[in-house]
Amino acid sequence: MRVDGKPYRTIWLNEDGRSVDIIDQTRFPHVFSIITLKTMKSAAVAIRTMQVRGAPLIGATAAYGVALQMAGDDSDAGLRHAYETLMATRPTAVNLRWALDEMHALLSPLPRAERCERAYARAAEICDEDVEICASIGRNGLEIVREIARTKAPGQTVNILTHCNAGWLATVDWGTATAPIYMAHDEGIPVHVWVDETRPRNQGAALTAWELGRHGVPHTVIPDNSGGHLMQHGEVDMVIVGTDRTTASGDVCNKIGTYLKALAAKDNGVPFYVALPSPTIDFTLDDGLRDIPIEQRSGDEVSRMTGMTKDGRVETVAIVAEGSPVANHAFDVTPARLVTGLITERGVVAADKQAIAAMFPERVAEAASQPATATTA
Ligand code: MRU
Repeated sequence: MRVDGKPYRTIWLNEDGRSVDIIDQTRFPHVFSIITLKTMKSAAVAIRTMQVRGAPLIGATAAYGVALQMAGDDSDAGLRHAYETLMATRPTAVNLRWALDEMHALLSPLPRAERCERAYARAAEICDEDVEICASIGRNGLEIVREIARTKAPGQTVNILTHCNAGWLATVDWGTATAPIYMAHDEGIPVHVWVDETRPRNQGAALTAWELGRHGVPHTVIPDNSGGHLMQHGEVDMVIVGTDRTTASGDVCNKIGTYLKALAAKDNGVPFYVALPSPTIDFTLDDGLRDIPIEQRSGDEVSRMTGMTKDGRVETVAIVAEGSPVANHAFDVTPARLVTGLITERGVVAADKQAIAAMFPERVAEAASQPATATTA
């Protein structure tokens, strides 16, 4: 996507041919800045501190993290160390494990002399594939937006609610939930997006609103609790969210608060779609509530807020009574029964085990040969 007229991806190879550049997402919406990752450890820190975040981008950064490791130490021990260090950064988004497994399977049988070049090539390929996948998700989701637009009077706005940031900043480009929105906007369908602010880290207010604004998509930031009210009053035509891990039977794990939106959507007859690339489907798990590890993050994210003062200083302030305990569950699970459909790169599929398996038979076969990987956060 373009930032001030210049095309950007969220991650790219530095011109030195070895380092990796990323956009620092911890400084949005106030500052647009680029960080250069020079080591595997700095890639791990970028994922852990959420300089990069969003399931697909976490996977892409991990792939480049392995390449950075291979540039310095291409031994078996080095590969194992990179795999374990990167795997330990964040527990919920399964794209991390997917990308690391891809890199490990490719590199471990290779002679050491070939590992570094092949690692950079595969990381670049993973990024290109993600862009292609998101563009396909966009085209498939666009059909649904077009259909909703057809049910309205000509020129009437299609109102879409989204949660967190499943935009281009969460992927390599396009985004998942936002790809159909950008495409609908670009072809002239009047769309308007209700952007959940997404406490506690405000990915909606800080990231989704920023990127929609840059692309000229009409949007309104709302407090997280507003969605139900808007749905009751006919102000939401559809919900589209992303996901960090969806099970083989269609249970959807996404940013905390997604489940409440799905409940409200069900109660109000509003279609609730989840946009996802196939690497986000965990074919080793069935029961999302039981098996998906939910990241617990620092209470500081709940008890403090960061913003810009009128005179342009970025400051963090306390917002919780001193001494009150806080809890910070980063994700929740929306059961498959609340999901209208999964928008994937191969088409829109029911959140149902048989339907998902029929769409991705090779992934089912692959998972059958792997052990289940459920862990606790
Ligand atoms: O904690 P985050 O910001 O990494 O969480 C991101 C989300 O929950 C996104 O909705 C999800 O990763 C899908 S991104 C296309």
